Amino acid sequence: MQACSGAFSEAVDPDLNLGPGELSRGVRLDDLQCARASEFYRNLQPLMRFKGLRQSSRAGERIIAMQISNFKDMYLAELQELVSTEAQLAESLLQMAEVASHPALKEALVRHREQTEVQKERLVSLLQKHGADPTAHTDQAMQALIGETGKMVTMLKGNDLRDAGLIASAQRLEHYEIAAYGTAAALAGQLNLRDDQQTLHTSLEEEKQTDVLLTQLAKREINPHAVAA
Ligand SMILES: [Fe+2]
Repeated sequence: MQACSGAFSEAVDPDLNLGPGELSRGVRLDDLQCARASEFYRNLQPLMRFKGLRQSSRAGERIIAMQISNFKDMYLAELQELVSTEAQLAESLLQMAEVASHPALKEALVRHREQTEVQKERLVSLLQKHGADPTAHTDQAMQALIGETGKMVTMLKGNDLRDAGLIASAQRLEHYEIAAYGTAAALAGQLNLRDDQQTLHTSLEEEKQTDVLLTQLAKREINPHAVAA
């Protein structure tokens, strides 16, 4: 149980003073789960980052609120949030693929990670075209969703159940992206930025296709195995 005694317990919640191997009071992990969970948190540390950035971003939020005074800047801020979303997701998908057991799920996560990198570059290109800084914003909603994903991974026992939970989490992340791309594309349309709108629709369709693929995987293979396990 040594693997869960240090950074992992602190990452879950440093104020809880959890014992070695404890996810929360009375919930213990076996050695393999500890190793997986520790690896996940060591690489991602989503909750720790979320806590740190949540505090440090407060001043930034005030500055952003003062700066946005027109529709075009609001649109660009949405794109800046989306770049952050894609960057965080690319990192998270890699970790999720490593934790996944089912080969088809692993492959789907790896393939979407590659797609995510392309989507991020599309957004960077759009922002650079408009003279906006692609690194200006951090999407805190995505940080929180990734934190929830990490927490879920550590709670689920057994490969089949963990795979089912990974799909549920991945689809939650995809649905967030679908909403964000839909909004950004609508804003681009309102500004008559047709090339931008087309580019955003391309990524939006990719997100929808990934969501459909994950649904098929869940219904046909992953969830039936998890139920039977
Ligand atoms: Fe994406």
